[in-house]
Amino acid sequence: MFGAPQIHSYADARAMARKYLPWMVFDYIDGAAGEGHGEAMNLSALCDIRLQPRVLVNVTKRDLGVTVFDHQAKIPFGISPMGMCNLSRPGADLMLARMAAKNKVPVGVSTVASTSLEKMIEVAEGHAWFQLYFSGSGSGTTRLVERAKAAGYRTLILTLDVPEVGRRPRELRRGFKMPFRIGPKQFVDFALHPKWSLSSLLYGKPDLANFTQPGFEFDRTESRAAADWAFLERLRDQWDGNLVAKGVTSVEDAQRLKTVGVDAIQVSTHGGRQLDSAPPPILALRDIRQALGDSFPLLYDTGIRSGEDVVKAYAMGADFVFFGRAMQFSIAAAGEAGLKQYCDLVAEEISLTLAQLGNTEMAGLSQSLAY
Ligand SMILES: Cc1cc2nc3c(=O)[nH]c(=O)nc-3n(C[C@H](O)[C@H](O)[C@H](O)COP(=O)(O)O)c2cc1C
Repeated sequence: MFGAPQIHSYADARAMARKYLPWMVFDYIDGAAGEGHGEAMNLSALCDIRLQPRVLVNVTKRDLGVTVFDHQAKIPFGISPMGMCNLSRPGADLMLARMAAKNKVPVGVSTVASTSLEKMIEVAEGHAWFQLYFSGSGSGTTRLVERAKAAGYRTLILTLDVPEVGRRPRELRRGFKMPFRIGPKQFVDFALHPKWSLSSLLYGKPDLANFTQPGFEFDRTESRAAADWAFLERLRDQWDGNLVAKGVTSVEDAQRLKTVGVDAIQVSTHGGRQLDSAPPPILALRDIRQALGDSFPLLYDTGIRSGEDVVKAYAMGADFVFFGRAMQFSIAAAGEAGLKQYCDLVAEEISLTLAQLGNTEMAGLSQSLAY
């Protein structure tokens, strides 16, 4: 009688997702490292940034397009790589891939994605970046790189902030495992969330889709601690496409990464999921931009919830911005329609914010606007 659910903000999407998803899945997506102070501090730092409005500028025509590496994106935000997205709803990965194709923006395809890397790049019409975790001795990692190359990937994201998987108490309390197991605790949880449980039963339990063929194995709990600068140099030699180093907040690391020859740095603290005491990445972004100069490509994710947040990240020095959790919550809230509603509302907020700031394009945003 009241029509489809309406998402007007991140809080709406999260509240709807919380009702639909089993506690185990909601806490896996929503959870952070430790007590969540790092995540909260970054959200608060983002909130504290003020943008200076300007008046009497003709802002009738506003353009949200930006250049990412060698192509034009229609909107200035994409999707950060996330493992097991189909837990939020069956087919979630492909919804994200279609959103990427439609807007010509990158969708990050996780090593531990629930849809194969080959299918993702096909559905995303080439707008997919493969995300790599170094694991164990690194031999499986090398094979995955070759597989991504064969599938047509041109951009590789190397995630560097997971030398070990962070302790996330909300995940641990619910007994979340990847791939997950159904014990008595989960049985009660699933029974209390029948809509999710029925659709997941119908479509089958999501799996680690890049590891279903022989020769490819992944153990989430296996240490990733052996990755070092020598590994990065070998990877740089192996991969001639764009190489993005994700999960960086130190100016010194950023300077060395630039010297080693990565093509972009993604400033991020993994959505606050790795080190609770990490500095707010939105502030690290400003410092890294100042240290690396205007022309070095900097990408940003963590804590982005609204169009104003996107504009703030550009003003702090980002050349492109990614959403994480918010995309999964909008899908859990209302499927592909929910994802579209959320992306449309963010784009509209960005356009309105540009108007308020007296800007007609993203390229005009600079640190002089933010304080
Ligand atoms: C459920 C979930 C799974 C994630 N899986 C991965 C992953 O497999 N690889 C990776 O590099 N980052 C992963 N991330 C981190 C995201 O890429 C991104 O850094 C983070 O979600 C951004 O913060 P936000 O959620 O506050 O927007 C994951 C994040 C979430 C919420």
